[in-house]
Amino acid sequence: MDMSSYAERREAFVKAMGEGVAIIPAAPQSTRSNDVEYRYRQDNDLLYLTGFPEPSCVCVLSPGHDSERFILFVQPRDREKETWTGKRYGVDGAREVFGADAAYTIDQVRDVLPAHLAETAAVHFAPGRDERMNTLIQGLIDGSRSGRARTGRGVVSLVDPGAILHEMRLHKSTAELDLMRKAVAASARAHAAAIREVRDGSLEYELEALLEYHFRAAGGSGPAYPSIVASGANATILHYTQNDRRMRDGDLVLIDAGAEFDGYCSDVTRTFPVGAGYSPPQRRIYEIVLRAQKEAIATVRPGVSMEDIHHRATEVLVDGLLELGLLSGEAGELIEKGAHTRFYMHRTGHWLGLDVHDVGRYRMDGASRPLEPGMVLTVEPGLYIAEDLEDVSGEYLGIGVRIEDDVLVTEAGHEVLSAAILKEVDDIEAIRREALAAVSA
Ligand code: GLY
Ligand code: MN
Ligand code: MN
Repeated sequence: MDMSSYAERREAFVKAMGEGVAIIPAAPQSTRSNDVEYRYRQDNDLLYLTGFPEPSCVCVLSPGHDSERFILFVQPRDREKETWTGKRYGVDGAREVFGADAAYTIDQVRDVLPAHLAETAAVHFAPGRDERMNTLIQGLIDGSRSGRARTGRGVVSLVDPGAILHEMRLHKSTAELDLMRKAVAASARAHAAAIREVRDGSLEYELEALLEYHFRAAGGSGPAYPSIVASGANATILHYTQNDRRMRDGDLVLIDAGAEFDGYCSDVTRTFPVGAGYSPPQRRIYEIVLRAQKEAIATVRPGVSMEDIHHRATEVLVDGLLELGLLSGEAGELIEKGAHTRFYMHRTGHWLGLDVHDVGRYRMDGASRPLEPGMVLTVEPGLYIAEDLEDVSGEYLGIGVRIEDDVLVTEAGHEVLSAAILKEVDDIEAIRREALAAVSA
């Protein structure tokens, strides 16, 4: 992302904000255990507005100020610390590389921010995960408010910056879509490798390792969320991440895994056989989910809502469950009663972007909001037949299938960003047969 994109975003944000000061804190560094930390991941709002990658940072946008309209508070340069944990941009880098009008060290927030708060009636700030920073900033806001009675100046209202920022993030620019396409391309390579490489006796974590090799090898930062490699009945557990079962010929394996690229997520699920092909009951369930997913994707265009998409997927799934005798009754009534939630217990999609479950409101004016060009969402119906259901035909027990694609809303309708990742039964079985023939040749 080039620096001018961040400047344009800040400009659009402050234009929508009007009079006010925005304070956007960095994500805290998180401890993994004892003295070992997780690899740092910046807060997405701060990343979106600045591209600044380091912890212990606060971004302040103060459009009413004479000269310091974009301020970064950052970690100071520190030769010794940088020897251990890597280079820091410091205040010079914050100005020169990230274009801040002014930069200070993070310990100067207490000294610099009050002057900005004294001159504004509205502060756009949402407490982040860094409790110490929240307390400091909240204290400075309170200080400004308490002086107001005497001075007639100071903060009156505290506003969630997400009201503006998350709507901006929901609508992707061309540059953002380029990064999302790269994330999806890395996922495509990973899923293609997994479909080819799985064998009778493979361990779920071997596929996890293969997927994540491809995410990194393609230049991604790794998985966008913990990879799910769920074989056999594990596929009926929605967020299974144990990934330690040995797979057998005859199993299906559900892989829900997506790469992150420059902060942008992909989120893709495929469900395929460990052996050469789907068994007849597996295939029946798979084809219902595939039909539901294709029908749901076909509805995606401007003006249609997430609720419409979910409803279409649910209708097709329920018709299929009726055909298989897994539900009985009248489709409309079953959906009304939620009878399908026994086998389909999640929504059909979510926004996708810097967060895998991306920001942006799903409802507006009391209704599911209409889609607009530039939004990216997942479409991911599934069917999950738990292995311990006593009133279900044995052949279906323990089958879990989900198929998930990443879909961009366009003026004309939609574009499936993950279309290169195969999902037709014939295509998947052809690859499986080829892969197994190559081994035995
Ligand atoms: N991988 C999480 C989800 O599909 O929402
Ligand atoms: Mn997923
Ligand atoms: Mn998803």
